[in-house]
Amino acid sequence: MSDAKQEVLGILCSGRGTNLQSIITAVNRGEIAADIAVVISDKPDAAALTRAEKAGLPAVCIDRRRFADRDAFEAALIGELQKRGVTLVILAGFMRLLGKTFLHVYGGRTMNIHPALLPAFPGAHAHRDTIAYGVKVSGCTVHFVDEGMDTGPIILQAAVPVLDDDTEETLAARILVEEHKIYPQAIKLYCEGLLCIVGRKVRIG
Ligand code: GAR
Repeated sequence: MSDAKQEVLGILCSGRGTNLQSIITAVNRGEIAADIAVVISDKPDAAALTRAEKAGLPAVCIDRRRFADRDAFEAALIGELQKRGVTLVILAGFMRLLGKTFLHVYGGRTMNIHPALLPAFPGAHAHRDTIAYGVKVSGCTVHFVDEGMDTGPIILQAAVPVLDDDTEETLAARILVEEHKIYPQAIKLYCEGLLCIVGRKVRIG
């Protein structure tokens, strides 16, 4: 029997949870050697919580509005994650910036996915900004989280064409197909001990 350390995932969401679903599927298929210990949403009505429950996973709402400030909210997130032994935090459509309090504990162990080829088009309106700018190629990026807005070291990216008649919805759908491939891949690489952060770069292998 292997005594290799198995990563324990805590997945943070704010919305519908299709990336969450792709990760649950990859774990259930044995493609990622990790346990999912908890799914946390900052929004009580997030569909991601229902997906987690259907998959038999602990689903917890930590409502940002119940906390006086970001530090208190982050302390509650940390408490829930540590209580469940989480070693890697996955932001999957979690639409909040995390700061010093959180990253003091989980820095270098928190990943995010963003629907653009960073450093282009960070922020909450990536598809709209991409179409408005007129670029011909976009895609998605998995990166480690630092204190900036979508600025941390990049792990994987995938590109898709931007078509002349794209709307936010058609572009988002094309990018989402790639998100569902590269996020599980990036988590698998981490769980196999194959990611190393060197300054701004992530070495793979
Ligand atoms: C995804 O497209 C993800 O890249 C994006 O939110 C969507 C969540 O969808 N994240 C961001 O824009 C973060 N800045 P999902 O809830 O179906 O996974």
